[in-house]
Amino acid sequence: WFTEVKMGPPDAILGVTEAFKRDQNPKKMNVGVGAYRDDNTKPFVLPSVREAEKRVVNRGLDKEYAPIVGFPEFYNKAIELALGKDSKRLQAKHNVTTQTISGTGALRVGAAFLSRFWTGCRDVYMPNPTWGNHVPIFEHSGLSVKRYRYYNPASCDLDFAGMIEDLKKIPEGAIVLLHACAHNPTGVDPTVEQWREISKVVKDRKLYPFIDFAYQGFASGDVDRDAQAVRIFEADGHDFCLAQSFAKNMGLYGERAGAFSVICTDEEEAARVMSQVKIIIRGLYSSPPIHGARIAAEILNNDDLRKQWLVDVKQMADRIIDARCTLRENLKKLGSSRSWEHIVNQIGMFCYTGLKPEQVTKLAKDYSIYMTQDGRISMAGVSSKNVDYLAESIHKVTK
Ligand code: LMR
Repeated sequence: WFTEVKMGPPDAILGVTEAFKRDQNPKKMNVGVGAYRDDNTKPFVLPSVREAEKRVVNRGLDKEYAPIVGFPEFYNKAIELALGKDSKRLQAKHNVTTQTISGTGALRVGAAFLSRFWTGCRDVYMPNPTWGNHVPIFEHSGLSVKRYRYYNPASCDLDFAGMIEDLKKIPEGAIVLLHACAHNPTGVDPTVEQWREISKVVKDRKLYPFIDFAYQGFASGDVDRDAQAVRIFEADGHDFCLAQSFAKNMGLYGERAGAFSVICTDEEEAARVMSQVKIIIRGLYSSPPIHGARIAAEILNNDDLRKQWLVDVKQMADRIIDARCTLRENLKKLGSSRSWEHIVNQIGMFCYTGLKPEQVTKLAKDYSIYMTQDGRISMAGVSSKNVDYLAESIHKVTK
């Protein structure tokens, strides 16, 4: 039956982990996938998550299906975390919010909803570059993907002029995908002033924003500061879709806890949209997993745990900032003639190094250092134990 099926390529990000696992070199490093590691490069379970999980388990809850849209004590707190306690749109009940299978699920549900109901242009404009999975998620839903300029490889910084120029050319009624903070893969975000301008252009061009918010807390270590872009869009009166993930900021990777929201024009529209989002979720996966959302809800609904969680997030963000400084310093000390300023200027989990594909290949082959082919390093995999080796190896392949 499947004689015509061709062998597909490994996943651009998760395939890196598969290659890493096959490598026997004791010095091997996985800086491919964006998953936080402690200073011993071991997976890290946040203390707040450990405690929340204990409390959830001690309650001896059943394993019944969650409602189609998940647990309200989770998703209501999730959207409040994004928009803030004083959000006018939340108070006016303009939001449709559902629990989803992490951020990917939120994007997929949103893409399916737009594919079925969006009456404007069916193109989704994404930054160039963007997270590798954005493209298939939207294409699987029958939308087509186009790009706007975002990153300037020469300066390793935001190409803001190019971005604005491109946004102004996007046809009215198209969908525009934005990363709320800690842009993946570049680690380059617009400033608050630039966000204001982006919001204005998106409004003037009558574009529909779909905001991916996968790293709240990971950019600055402060969940409210990282929410500025989303809150600017809310304050400017946009209707928009929002995808949230608790994979990174709570370290709930495999628990798949996320949320999808549509910020609607009014409560009546929200009720209609909600009814259709439910129909879509039922057809895709019926209802979401329960355990991760219970943990996240426990944290978000209890002051002591929430406080601890904010400390945990800051601690992760700070360790990454330290790793950035050490890597840059080491490269300098080794006498690298290149400027590695962008390692410390970029923020969030990733560093877009500017390494060429052949250098990336050499790092994997000769040094057992695994990163994505575009030269993105997950700084979360860099520790005080392996940073010297990483710097030396990068220096050797860039001399
Ligand atoms: C990444 O970009 O490495 C993460 O978002 C993990 C993933 O699923 O790709």
